[in-house]
Amino acid sequence: MEIDNLVNQYLDKNDPSGWFEVLYTQANHDPTQVPWATLEPTPQLIQWLQKNKPSTSINNKPRAVVVGCGLGDDAQALANSGYDVTAFDISTTAINWCEQRFPDFLVNYLTADLLALPQDWQGKFDFVWECRTIQALPLNIRGKVISAIASLLKPNGKLLLLTHFQDNEKELSGPPWALSPKDLEKFIQQGLREKYRTTTPHNSKPINIACVEYVNYYSDNSTTTGA
Ligand SMILES: C[S@@+](CC[C@H](N)C(=O)[O-])C[C@H]1O[C@@H](n2cnc3c(N)ncnc32)[C@H](O)[C@@H]1O
Repeated sequence: MEIDNLVNQYLDKNDPSGWFEVLYTQANHDPTQVPWATLEPTPQLIQWLQKNKPSTSINNKPRAVVVGCGLGDDAQALANSGYDVTAFDISTTAINWCEQRFPDFLVNYLTADLLALPQDWQGKFDFVWECRTIQALPLNIRGKVISAIASLLKPNGKLLLLTHFQDNEKELSGPPWALSPKDLEKFIQQGLREKYRTTTPHNSKPINIACVEYVNYYSDNSTTTGA
């Protein structure tokens, strides 16, 4: 089935993430049938990791989570940089595929729904990597998707986001549905601070790619009176 038909079938059923499992199953272990699969870690993540080495010790690795991890290359790159990595995807077939590709147990791969996250993941991660999942989900759930991602961060934790971005609020017919300035503002409304943003033109589409780093800024307001 054409991807557009498959997506529309699930959007009509109000199940905007349902088509991913069908796509991964139909791909039947052939990555060329997964439109976003490159089988390489994302260059923007690698550049960030080169500049931001985690401070690690054997017993105290910082915790990272990969949202919508696809075939797992980014999760492996984070683990190789010294993070204790949880990587989740709504598609069990994608998660099984990750475990077959990377049988080294460096990463904890799990099936999970971003919109129904385990309670004990709230505020637990030092680093969140979100690459192209938000843009794959429709606009009517954007607020929920963004607040779910922000909820994963520890105080002072960092979120790195890579996404299609348009600098206006025009409605697009997706997927992908590029993020807009108002969408990026939603991260600020969740209590995050934008640390830096780069936007570059997409190499084959009339859209930009934004890479944005946020910090879950935490200020300890408790004062010591000395009394
Ligand atoms: C466009 S792909 C991007 C995959 C990967 N991040 C990458 O950049 O190659 C979006 C991914 O998000 C996953 N996904 C979609 N809806 C999800 C949800 N509600 N919870 C978790 N993962 C979801 C899909 O299965 C898919 O693997």
